[in-house]
Amino acid sequence: MRLFFALWPPPETAQALARWAAEVHRQSGGKVNAVENIHLTLAFLGEAPPEPAIGAARGIKGRRHQLPIDAARYVKKNEMVWVGPATMPPELAALAADLRNVLTSAGFALEERPFAAHVTLLRKAHMPKSIPPLPRVEWPVEEFVLVRSRTSPQGSVYEPLERFALHA
Ligand code: 2AM
Repeated sequence: MRLFFALWPPPETAQALARWAAEVHRQSGGKVNAVENIHLTLAFLGEAPPEPAIGAARGIKGRRHQLPIDAARYVKKNEMVWVGPATMPPELAALAADLRNVLTSAGFALEERPFAAHVTLLRKAHMPKSIPPLPRVEWPVEEFVLVRSRTSPQGSVYEPLERFALHA
């Protein structure tokens, strides 16, 4: 199974980000991420069995927090547009680091590059002339999810396998 750990936004936040992405798309073209696929990846496992990943993640004691979405970037190298926090919330940095540690200890090979909190909204995009102002959104982070990724002719299909609650 192709697996990753992620944060999923509340539906109204996903909708507001999808509307913003549609606005960018008018200038940039490319492919907008489907509203139900909007997420922030915490750790990408690739092809892996889910049970040891679930076991490892059960040991995490992460804290609830808010995720500000106040930065938007066009990344020329990847031809993508992403949004994310301008400043990394410490609880999110701790969660990503803890997850990396427990997964590495459980024998998963994770990529070396440091965690960058980003939500990809457009791919194969040209550089937009200007980036419209971001909507004000609330993204309360109360859990993280282990997700299975499948590709279909219509694009990626993400299936949540297991949810892990964060604490106050
Ligand atoms: P992206 O949005 O930056 O492409 C499901 O594919 C999720 O895992 C996406 O959020 C994607 O990030 C991320 N992902 C895909 N392949 C990856 C890889 N090799 N390393 C890290 N993250 C990856």
